[in-house]
Amino acid sequence: MSSRSPYDELHYPGKFYPQGAPSRIATAATLFGVRAPPLATSRILELGCGEGGHLVPIAAAYPQSSCLGIDSSASAIERARDYAERGGVSACEFRAEDVRSFPEDAGQFDYILVHGVYSWVPEAAQQAILSICARHLKPEGLAYLSYNAYPGGHVRQILRDLSVFHTKDIADPHEKVREARQVCEFIIGAMPPNTLERQLFGRLLGAYNDSDALIRYDLLAEENEPVYFLDFMDGARALGLQFVAESGFAARERPRLPEPVQRWLEAIPDRLVREQYLDFIGCSGFRQSILCRSNRSVEARPSAATLAQVYLRSSLGAVPEAVLTDESAVTFRDVFGRELTCSEPVPKVLYAELGAVFPEALAYPQLRARIEARLAAAAPIDALTEGKLVSLLLQSEDTGALEMYAEPPSFVLAAGAQPQASAVARLQAERGEALTVRGASGLLAADATLRALVGLLDGDRDAARLERDWLRAIGVSEAPHPGALERALRLLAGQGLLVA
Ligand SMILES: C[S@@+](CC[C@H](N)C(=O)[O-])C[C@H]1O[C@@H](n2cnc3c(N)ncnc32)[C@H](O)[C@@H]1O
Repeated sequence: MSSRSPYDELHYPGKFYPQGAPSRIATAATLFGVRAPPLATSRILELGCGEGGHLVPIAAAYPQSSCLGIDSSASAIERARDYAERGGVSACEFRAEDVRSFPEDAGQFDYILVHGVYSWVPEAAQQAILSICARHLKPEGLAYLSYNAYPGGHVRQILRDLSVFHTKDIADPHEKVREARQVCEFIIGAMPPNTLERQLFGRLLGAYNDSDALIRYDLLAEENEPVYFLDFMDGARALGLQFVAESGFAARERPRLPEPVQRWLEAIPDRLVREQYLDFIGCSGFRQSILCRSNRSVEARPSAATLAQVYLRSSLGAVPEAVLTDESAVTFRDVFGRELTCSEPVPKVLYAELGAVFPEALAYPQLRARIEARLAAAAPIDALTEGKLVSLLLQSEDTGALEMYAEPPSFVLAAGAQPQASAVARLQAERGEALTVRGASGLLAADATLRALVGLLDGDRDAARLERDWLRAIGVSEAPHPGALERALRLLAGQGLLVA
């Protein structure tokens, strides 16, 4: 790679994106009836991996996997290599390479990840990305591509048009970003107060608040052309790929829509057309689509049968004397103190059963049997109740009330005598970033106190030394509460942050 990439100009900070993680992709695919490749030993390719913010934590979570990240920005690849090295991750290779010259003999991959690239590159590169997915996906492999989409993209394009127009004669990248931000703020501020457009653009601009790089590479990007879902799928289908699901599948569940709208959608026979209408209904501006080979069978929606293949986990719990089988309101609280109140017996029993085994997970058939046993006297689970249960589980996943996994989670669930977090988690804590947790399927926005503790979990400190060093690190002489260390370690173990 000799030519300089525009991404060498300004630092584009890399992040871990749970929605684009293999674990998440595997869960979504499983729910739509598509068997996912085993995670631990998978071969993973990321196109446009930037500085490895996504791939390095994945490689750390699956030490027996093999990961390859490519990006045309040589400076980003240098940082990615440095991150992998400092994170003690060896099975992760990074190459400064353009997608248009990806070697044909690179072999096949279980997961191909392309986050935030497709709609930001010219057509030839888009075509190359889809061709790589088609050529280099194993027969049972899954590809994940996120992209700016229409119709929601139209609104964002107005800010982009304004930014590009206003800064067309400015060469210095920093000044360009500064001017673009200022003109957007100025024009939005000039819109009459309390109008819909002022609210809408204000909210959109808010997404760029903390990041000059986002302004540079989104609003001022050389390429940024949203695409309609159906047009995107035309390109994918022509190469032998088909749609499995959105990574955020639960948010698109139709039971959230009014009955007549649901019926109208149900009457549309083509699933892709239904998906396109859902984008219009939700004014979607961003998609995170999972694809597989066209010859596989894909279910139109999650069902009790596909749910039977997944594992569920939740830390919600209620006081022991709470009455679950009547219609009384019960408040559940999770390990972070978030509350959820419900009064119907099925959700109450569901959360109570999951909470009772936390931090372990339950397979759906086990959970169903437990719910049935508890409710048997009141109301056995018939087809109608099961349908509602499926919807409830999907909605609960969407709101974060429970977690779903395609494979039984195998986290280290208790802190040993000298607790240890992965070197990547310690690095993230040091940098003040959110922590990649739950087998690279989630993010934990830990506060400074918890991050200070994670930074110390190098496996060399016993509890006494850990407590002493932790208190010193957060600048206090005694623990904020008795048992604070034990509680914090239990929380981290529950989040799958500890390693053996
Ligand atoms: C918006 S950034 C996204 C980076 C990362 N995936 C993320 O989401 O944080 C787009 C990335 O695609 C890379 N890229 C753009 N065109 C490319 C090409 N033709 N071949 C390989 N990488 C490319 C850029 O260098 C940049 O790192």
